[in-house]
Amino acid sequence: MIEVKQAYKTFNRGTPDENPSIRGLSLKINDGDFVTVIGSNGAGKSTLMNLLSGSIQADSGSIHIAGQDVSTMPEYKRARFIGRVFQDPKVGSASDLSVAENLSLAMKRCGGRGLRLANRKAYHETFKEKLSHLDLGLEERLNDSIGLLSGGQRQAITLLMASMIEPHILLLDEHTAALDPKTADRVMRLTDQIIKEHKLTALMITHNMEQAVKYGNRLVMLHQGKVALDISGSERENLKEEDLLAQFSKLAKT
Ligand SMILES: Nc1ncnc2c1ncn2[C@@H]1O[C@H](COP(=O)(O)OP(=O)(O)OP(=O)(O)O)[C@@H](O)[C@H]1O
Ligand SMILES: [Mg+2]
Repeated sequence: MIEVKQAYKTFNRGTPDENPSIRGLSLKINDGDFVTVIGSNGAGKSTLMNLLSGSIQADSGSIHIAGQDVSTMPEYKRARFIGRVFQDPKVGSASDLSVAENLSLAMKRCGGRGLRLANRKAYHETFKEKLSHLDLGLEERLNDSIGLLSGGQRQAITLLMASMIEPHILLLDEHTAALDPKTADRVMRLTDQIIKEHKLTALMITHNMEQAVKYGNRLVMLHQGKVALDISGSERENLKEEDLLAQFSKLAKT
């Protein structure tokens, strides 16, 4: 589904701030993989997501998605098949627009299909139905500005918006980090449910080791802009939080 080959990205090249962020990173992700991505601050996790989504381009190397070379494809085109949720609940939806308007925009983005006024009622019914599955009472708040919702409610809607696109790569960058533990847990379970239901291929960055071992079928650790650890299969199933912490301290010495 996703293949990154020998990607390099250096920020501020040729200046005193030159910063090699991604250094020969190669990674192949299969259709339907749910990969948790861990690594210390500055390891290159968000940069990898930016490369995949097209918000930045690699200096060299290639990125293929579903067999197509997307290395130079602009972000807005990739947005048709890549959904993204960030750490900040305010990013990913428009505060001044209502819940329904945000959902309409997400639908539009996925295929350029406009929301005709005549269809408004039908769409609202669909939105209500989708929102009711979140179990947060949001189906009653279709006309409220999204800015009035709590961070957790907003992340749940952003997730829903991201899952409306097909065919589906979901990039999650610490999307529960700004939520209280109970809400984080709820949004995490919802994430897992949406990924399974829509058979998404997903990458989730997290600093929460419990989440990193509890969710997904594969775990990738980045270190200094490269893949330092890639665990899947039965090894992944048997992986414990303490194993990861041990790996972290081992890498910290390098
Ligand atoms: N737009 C940018 N301009 C300059 N440097 C950048 C930019 N984006 C990232 N970097 C640098 O690239 C390196 C990797 O950053 P990145 O944000 O990918 O780390 P990360 O693994 O997501 O870390 P964290 O866990 O703190 O979010 C860092 O040294 C960072 O300062
Ligand atoms: Mg980051």
